[in-house]
Amino acid sequence: MEQYVIKGGNPLVGEVKIGGAKNAALAILAAAIMTDETVLIENLPDVRDINVLLQAIEGIGAVVERIDRHTVKINGSMISDVNIEYEYIKKIRASYYLLGALLGKYKRAQVALPGGCNIGSRPIDQHIKGFKALGAEVRIEHGSIFTEADQLMGNHIYLDVVTVGATINIMMVAALSKGNTIIENAAKEPHVVDVANFLNSMGANIKGAGTDVIRIKGVEKLHKTEYSIIPDQIEAGTFMFAAAATKGNVLVKNVIPKHLEATTAKLLEIGCDIEEYDDAVRVIGTGKALQHTHVKTLPYPGYPTDMQPQIAVTLGLSQGTSIVTESIFENRFKYVDELARMGGDIKVEGNTAIINGVRKYTGARVSAPDLRAGAALVIAGLSAEGITIVDDIVYIQRGYECFEEKLRGLGAQIERVNSENEIQKFRLKVG
Ligand code: EPZ
Repeated sequence: MEQYVIKGGNPLVGEVKIGGAKNAALAILAAAIMTDETVLIENLPDVRDINVLLQAIEGIGAVVERIDRHTVKINGSMISDVNIEYEYIKKIRASYYLLGALLGKYKRAQVALPGGCNIGSRPIDQHIKGFKALGAEVRIEHGSIFTEADQLMGNHIYLDVVTVGATINIMMVAALSKGNTIIENAAKEPHVVDVANFLNSMGANIKGAGTDVIRIKGVEKLHKTEYSIIPDQIEAGTFMFAAAATKGNVLVKNVIPKHLEATTAKLLEIGCDIEEYDDAVRVIGTGKALQHTHVKTLPYPGYPTDMQPQIAVTLGLSQGTSIVTESIFENRFKYVDELARMGGDIKVEGNTAIINGVRKYTGARVSAPDLRAGAALVIAGLSAEGITIVDDIVYIQRGYECFEEKLRGLGAQIERVNSENEIQKFRLKVG
């Protein structure tokens, strides 16, 4: 098992380039098999979840050609199987996008039910509600979800909760259903818009993505396209908080600043300076003490749940008492006990964390409970006095490409190691 070993205390300074959005890419890869023509996808992040999904797509007979690290060609004309049982697929939540893609194209699909997740219970009732409304039958048997339809027909669907996954999945099925579909109370996240743009570039007719009413006119079939995925707002935000927590000065490049507004607003509130450019954001955390604030996670354009641990770690170093409320996933405070071992003063009551800022964290051995919490513990380690070891970094690798290389480019002392021996060597090297 690999670890990150970090010698904290260096302000991060320099420039970092952000990759393609993992959560947009997962849906777009699934949607790419909805045509029999070849689709070229660029700006794909080279992270574990993406590679697992690509293997699953290949496993059912699609031709996947990796042009380079961030570009792939997919041809779904040879798909021979609509049953995804690939053993690792259960581990990635986004396997549910294959249900929508296969149901839309072949009118039937069977996918191993995504398993439980570390951030809380993750129902798929809204996906099922949408599939049924479009005319599909859905059954859950033997750990898999089966869905099939004689004919898919557009419908008017009101989502009971704002969900990214169900909005995208219904959009994919509706794109190839007969007639018109209206999704109300749709999610407005940038990746919902990106998937709609991708499907439209394949000939779909989707309007209103990015608002809470999406209108889809079904088409007979989809065709080839070339498409570049949007930048990852969560990767960007993670580096922005790393700059703030280490009192650094970082230019975060290749971003869409509009997608980062909730993060930028909070950084300004706690006393950072922000410079915005067309496709970059500079975060300056030098000079002043950070101040407390309150934050509640909400669907876009609210403050993202995927950025909750990163802001909490930063508020843990800010003057005064901050309150962080998690309203999307109930189990997203697991890193708090780890942070306490580094000197953090955070108390969790229900879905609220009460954070009393401390002057500094001190390095300790901690373990990443999930993807974003893992990244947040790395931020804590970068700002801490002494050496921090983060175990279970496999979670972090699911969603951050070259995380340690990018941090090293900003002056961080961080290495990926896989033995106590290597940890010892690092200790000797950094002194
Ligand atoms: C996506 O998950 C992301 N994952 C998550 O990112 C992200 O945290 C989440 O959206 C919220 O932004 C992917 O895109 C692969 P939801 P998703 O459906 O689609 C409830 C990361 O760190 N709900 O928007 O599964 C659900 O319980 C990951 O990159 C239902 O009740 O999230 C939650 O409270 C972690 N019924 C809320 O809706 C349903 O059928 C939002 O979930 C579906 C969801």
